[in-house]
Amino acid sequence: MRKTMIDRTGFGNLILGSFCAVIAATGAGVAQQQYGTATSQDSAAQQQSQVAQEQAVRKAYSDNVSKTYNYRFGKDKPSLPGRAAAEGDGFLEPGAFPNAKYCAHCHQEAYSQWRQALHSNAFRTPFYRTSVNILINTKGIEFARHCDSCHNPVAVLGGGLTQDSQVDHVFDQDGLTCMTCHSIQSV
Ligand code: HEC
Ligand code: HEC
Ligand code: HEC
Repeated sequence: MRKTMIDRTGFGNLILGSFCAVIAATGAGVAQQQYGTATSQDSAAQQQSQVAQEQAVRKAYSDNVSKTYNYRFGKDKPSLPGRAAAEGDGFLEPGAFPNAKYCAHCHQEAYSQWRQALHSNAFRTPFYRTSVNILINTKGIEFARHCDSCHNPVAVLGGGLTQDSQVDHVFDQDGLTCMTCHSIQSV
C-alpha cells in the first residue's frame, strides 16, 4: 500500500493527518517504513513514475467507463445525486482501494469487528437491497448513486452505477469498506 493510493481515494477536506503509521508519509513525500517493500529507499524519480503510472491506469479505466456512463445529472458531477467524490479526475478503478482482507493481515480485531457490524453489510442486507431495487426499477439505476454514496461508495466512485455497467462488482460484499472511511479527506 502506498501513500499515493491514500491520496487518490477519499471524499473530498477533513484531512486525516496520518493514516497508518506504517504507510504515513507526511508533507513533502517523506517516505517511511513500508510493508516489506523497500519503498523507503525509493528515489523521488521512482515515486514520480509510480504516480504517473497510477494516473495512467486511472485515466484508461475512467475513459473506458465514460464511454457508456449515464451523465444524466451533469458531465462534471458523475456521482450525483450521490455526494461521494474522489480527488482527481475521472472514475477511480475499484482496485485502487486495498480491500478489507488486506487490512485484516495486520488489523485482525478491527476486521472482525467491522465484518460483524452494519458497515461491512451496508450494501448487502436484504432490507437495503429491497429498497434500493425499488428505486432502481422505478427511477433508474443512476438514482441509486444517492444511496450507494453511503452504502457502497466504491461502486459510485468507480462509475458502476449506470445502465449495463461492465464494472466488476466484487466490492459489493465489503459495503462500507475500511478504505472508504480511512481515506476520507473532507466531509
Ligand atoms: C502489514 C501490516 C498492516 C497492514 C496490511 C495495514 N496496517 Fe494499518 N497499521 C499497521 C501498524 C503496524 C500500525 C501502527 C499501530 C500502532 O501505532 O499501534 C497501523 C495503524 C493503523 C491505523 C491507526 C493510525 C493511527 O493514527 O492511530 C489505522 C486507522 C490503520 N492502520 C488502518 C489500516 C487500513 C484501513 C488498512 C488496509 C487498507 C491497513 N491499516 C493495513 C499495520 C498494517
Ligand atoms: C448519508 C448516508 C446515507 C444515504 C445517502 C442513504 N443511507 Fe441508508 N443508511 C445509512 C445508515 C448510516 C444506515 C444505518 C442506520 C442505523 O442502523 O441506525 C442506513 C440504513 C439503511 C437501511 C436499513 C438497513 C438494514 O438492513 O437495517 C435501509 C433499507 C437503507 N438505509 C436504505 C437506503 C436507501 C434506499 C437509500 C437511498 C434512497 C439510502 N439508504 C441512502 C446511511 C445512508
Ligand atoms: C465507518 C467508517 C469506518 C470503517 C468502515 C472502518 N473504520 Fe477504522 N476507524 C474509523 C474511525 C472513525 C476510527 C477512529 C475512532 C476510534 O478510534 O474509535 C477508526 C479507527 C481505526 C483504527 C485505530 C484504532 C483502533 O481501534 O485500533 C484501526 C487500526 C482501524 N480503524 C482499522 C480499520 C479496518 C482494518 C477497517 C476495515 C476492516 C476499518 N477500520 C473500517 C472509521 C472506520
